[in-house]
Amino acid sequence: MLKPKVLVTRRVPEECLDLLKPHFELEHYNKGTAIPRKRLLKSVKDKDGLLCLLTDAIDPELLAAAPRLKAVSTFSVGYDHIDVPACAARGVAVTNTPGVLTESTADFTWALLMAAARRVVEGDAYMRGGKYKGWDPLMLLGTDVSGKTLGVIGFGRIGQAVAKRAGGFSMRVLYYDTRRAAPDAEAALNAAFVPLDELLRESDYVSVHTVLDEDTRHLIGDRAFGLMKKSAYLINAARGPIVDEKALVRALKAERIRGAALDVYEREPKMAPGLASCRNAVLAPHLASATLETRVKMGVMAAEGLIDGLVRKLRSPYRVD
Ligand code: GLV
Repeated sequence: MLKPKVLVTRRVPEECLDLLKPHFELEHYNKGTAIPRKRLLKSVKDKDGLLCLLTDAIDPELLAAAPRLKAVSTFSVGYDHIDVPACAARGVAVTNTPGVLTESTADFTWALLMAAARRVVEGDAYMRGGKYKGWDPLMLLGTDVSGKTLGVIGFGRIGQAVAKRAGGFSMRVLYYDTRRAAPDAEAALNAAFVPLDELLRESDYVSVHTVLDEDTRHLIGDRAFGLMKKSAYLINAARGPIVDEKALVRALKAERIRGAALDVYEREPKMAPGLASCRNAVLAPHLASATLETRVKMGVMAAEGLIDGLVRKLRSPYRVD
């Protein structure tokens, strides 16, 4: 029997390919850079399934170019690059990788927070630059984390995992979401539900964990920076466009807030002009889920998503939530 044809749009862990190979005839764009759009549109013409990344826009143009497509599995928890209603309208199943990257993403959010608060990156550059002349009571002073207030915007799986870690730092935790969490989740995490403006005014660290959609695009911009404390930090390991990056550069340069730590950018892989020269910004290249263990789990889950959709023919393999 002919195997369904699948396109894998990027190099992925071997464990992912090992799962796919017995079931599918694979075309693999086995590179560390995004598949060019033209090549993608050409390659999907005869494909039944697509294992894609957050750098591939799965939009009406792509769907029109892929008449046989029945399943799209993204190697990511985020699916803002996929037009899910357009896929549903054409009967194309969409799956993602929720859950398996929650802890590594929450860990990395804290790595960003700590790096910004305690000036780890500046300290490293100081050492390598041969500037360290001995211990100095006023050298590279940062900001305390313990006992401060953490504001979590978006209280889903990852937001809650970030909040959980704040307990170890005896922090007060505020959160904002469109929906209030269940009372037992609030109690377990010692987190208080507050309006967004109150969170922005009160928090020493504001950490963003919402999905990107039309309601959250530029949720954090000039207005938010105007409300935040001058001593506050912004952390974003969710999606770049939730923060108005040009407004952030203005806020950092004017010291309207004390610092920021970013893992995501509005127009990845580019950064807003001026951001790279902000001494008070810690900048990471979208690494939050980048551990060996997590990337293997994501690859396995992404492969299982395609197998569910194309082989097991689960009527409802949708995981996007
Ligand atoms: C990474 O950003 C993801 O959505 O998995």
